[in-house]
Amino acid sequence: MQKHGKCFLQVAIDAVEAGVKIPEADPKVTSVGYGGAPDRDGRVTLDACIMDEHASCGAVACLENILHPISVARLVMEKTPHVFLAGEGALSFALENEFKKTNLLTPEAEANWKKWIKEKKYIPKVDYNTHDTIGMLALDADGNLSGACTTSGWAYKMHGRIGDSPIIGAGLFVDNEVGGATSTGLGEEVIRVCGSHAVVELMRQGYHPAEACKAVVERMLKKSPRKRDEITAGFLALNKKGEYGAYAIKKGYQIAIHSNSEPGVLKDIDFLKL
Ligand code: GLY
Repeated sequence: MQKHGKCFLQVAIDAVEAGVKIPEADPKVTSVGYGGAPDRDGRVTLDACIMDEHASCGAVACLENILHPISVARLVMEKTPHVFLAGEGALSFALENEFKKTNLLTPEAEANWKKWIKEKKYIPKVDYNTHDTIGMLALDADGNLSGACTTSGWAYKMHGRIGDSPIIGAGLFVDNEVGGATSTGLGEEVIRVCGSHAVVELMRQGYHPAEACKAVVERMLKKSPRKRDEITAGFLALNKKGEYGAYAIKKGYQIAIHSNSEPGVLKDIDFLKL
């Protein structure tokens, strides 16, 4: 890539894009990309964002029929003067840039949606099982950080609903002087506290990534008008030294780590035990 007349490889940004493309294309992952649960009208609408070490960022929301929303988000970052494209505009931009239309609704996802319609009468409800997201952070050999976040969002949401995942500062934030953070769970709650930005700002003040994630989870719970039982969310953070941490409101989230000292390790996230 050419930037400012120099040629360099953006390793961390390439890693996060390539990493999240795997669940985006996996029909067994029911909360991201192909195979993701549709909205209540049966439409799979995708949200994604990406951010690099130069504080460059790109995002798409409510994007339909495109297998890799993260790559469209990256192109928004690299090829437009904007940060965020949504809906029809995001789709037109993707098609202009040679992305192909793909049906993302798998027969399994369609069957589950039809069952949901019958049982829940077209009313979206907060439910522990309707949220999940892939967020990924990378620190490369040059000490540069990048992050990516992508999801099909709240299963059976209202059409047009956008969660935290494509919102820079909510679902993802990277500051190359400090660290990066990303979130999963009920996006409405993460947006309320600008979650990922808050985690990075606490790391700037000296918090360890795990402590920063925990502090923002506690803040989220304090600020939310919802009942504790209704909220499910968590954060993952990585600082400039390569230290990482994660914290969630509820049991059940996992993080995958890959480094020289921990190659391919899966860990359960610590959670609030109040
Ligand atoms: N965190 C995913 C969503 O709420 O859409």
